[in-house]
Amino acid sequence: MPLVTLKKVLTKANKRNYAVGAFNINNLEMLQAIMEAAEAERSPVIISTSEGAINYAGMMELGSLVHIAAKRSKRPVVFHLDHGKNYNLVVEAIKSGLYTSVMYDGSSLPFEQNIKKTKKLVAMAHKRGISLEAELGSIAGIEDFVSVEEKDAHLTNPDQAKDFIRRTGCDALAIAVGTSHGAYKFSGASKLDQKRLTQIKLLTKMPLVLHGASGVPSNIKNLCIKYGCKIEKAKGVSDASIKKAISNGINKINIDTDLRIAFDAGIRKFLKDNPEVIDPRKILTPAKELITKVVRHKMKMFGSSNKG
Ligand code: G3H
Ligand code: 13P
Ligand code: ZN
Repeated sequence: MPLVTLKKVLTKANKRNYAVGAFNINNLEMLQAIMEAAEAERSPVIISTSEGAINYAGMMELGSLVHIAAKRSKRPVVFHLDHGKNYNLVVEAIKSGLYTSVMYDGSSLPFEQNIKKTKKLVAMAHKRGISLEAELGSIAGIEDFVSVEEKDAHLTNPDQAKDFIRRTGCDALAIAVGTSHGAYKFSGASKLDQKRLTQIKLLTKMPLVLHGASGVPSNIKNLCIKYGCKIEKAKGVSDASIKKAISNGINKINIDTDLRIAFDAGIRKFLKDNPEVIDPRKILTPAKELITKVVRHKMKMFGSSNKG
């Protein structure tokens, strides 16, 4: 079916209290692995490309692959620009005709400037029938803040979130409640500010987005380590914290790191076990299979299985 908008997919998720995974791709193999999972789970899916992915593989190249994959699929597929920090890149993505959703990440700007720029891009996106995700607060590990004051200054303020949504008209809001990007999120226990999340949901009733949500599952991490990857101290968000966050109002969950470690583990193991093989199709197949496994687990956990 043709691509659908983020708004369409998240409105349904918001009503029925589940979350849809947004998975980052950099190449054909990652896309194939994610689409395979969406088919197997009969789940809606959001395919994300970051600025880095666009620099690596090309906006048009990745977009064309996603359009073909969506057309062949029976599941609702959203094509989304992840973390558009560069205003002009967001404009380019909106005008490209490829995306059905873009994220403008003005979180590093002062509040009023973030509102001003987000509002302008919302108008531009909506004119073309595209959804817009905005961001408020700094997505940084909860352990980075030592005092309550520091935490309050960086994590999303519920009253500001309400005001921000009302004034910008964005379709989804990425909030900061203690997650961070990458493989090293916590040195101690996985902990999110669930109380803050509940307050934001209560005040906004909006589809809320959790970035930095990878779990760094121990089976994949250990496989990576066994075959030579040095990620001993990596730690992600626990499945229990994710489930609680969904029950408290998260409707979109961003995953990149877990796909990276699955890809890495698959390649490392295959090459170690099959040193004579030089065929990239053979080398990348186990990596794809591991990504599909990881994504299927997420879809089940997020409650999006059988919703597509
Ligand atoms: O949130 C960021 C994603 O993990 C994308 O990472 O900028 O290295 O592509 P990247
Ligand atoms: P992770 O690094 O936890 O996978 O987060 C990805 C993300 O938020 C992409 O926007
Ligand atoms: Zn992110």
